[in-house]
Amino acid sequence: MKEIDNTELIRYRYNRYSKFYDILEAPMEIPSSKWRKELVKYSSGKVLEVGVGTGKNIPYYQSNTNLTVIDFSSGMLHKAIKKFGHLNNINFTNADIQKTEFETDEFDTVIASFVFCSVPDPIKGLKEIKRICKNDGKIIILEHVRSDNKFIGLLMDFLNPLIVGLLGFNINRDTENNVINSGFHDYQDKNLLLNIFRMFIINNKK
Ligand SMILES: C[S@@+](CC[C@H](N)C(=O)[O-])C[C@H]1O[C@@H](n2cnc3c(N)ncnc32)[C@H](O)[C@@H]1O
Repeated sequence: MKEIDNTELIRYRYNRYSKFYDILEAPMEIPSSKWRKELVKYSSGKVLEVGVGTGKNIPYYQSNTNLTVIDFSSGMLHKAIKKFGHLNNINFTNADIQKTEFETDEFDTVIASFVFCSVPDPIKGLKEIKRICKNDGKIIILEHVRSDNKFIGLLMDFLNPLIVGLLGFNINRDTENNVINSGFHDYQDKNLLLNIFRMFIINNKK
């Protein structure tokens, strides 16, 4: 019951944040745009993007990509549809990655950027990705994580309740541990900036 309530709460916060997301996050695009370009370059075959938000990665996919994008916030998803709904290679779906209706082994590639800081139960979400991605498929996760610097890490812990309460995402998650605890062991962990911005390039082994 608690988990369902938390999911509703985070969804509510993202619906609220959707109105300001592109404006408030604009400065982050200065470093992020090159990471987004790298993120999507690994995609091949049938691709799922989880937590598409307002669609910031969409311009970087090849125009013939067979792409399904999901988000559990209708506010965020509608922003993406408004911008990119005319592209007929993309299927937009309102869905929660913690429990989807996709078939087992449906996708060749799964992409997510800055999503596992918000998914209420990240291990449940990652295990669902493991199920719906093919064996030997690729899962690419761009994420910000808790700093391993003692002082910055503690500052992130202190500020986290404020950020999660206002905007819906956590700044102190240990996403690498969540990846491992979800059963992924064959992965590359790339430090993009300060060991806080990281890219996990995972080979899905079943
Ligand atoms: C910080 S935003 C990132 C949006 C986009 N990926 C980007 O890079 O700009 C996090 C997104 O993940 C979505 N999200 C969080 N938990 C989710 C879940 N359980 N299932 C689907 N989407 C989720 C939120 O609604 C939000 O749109």
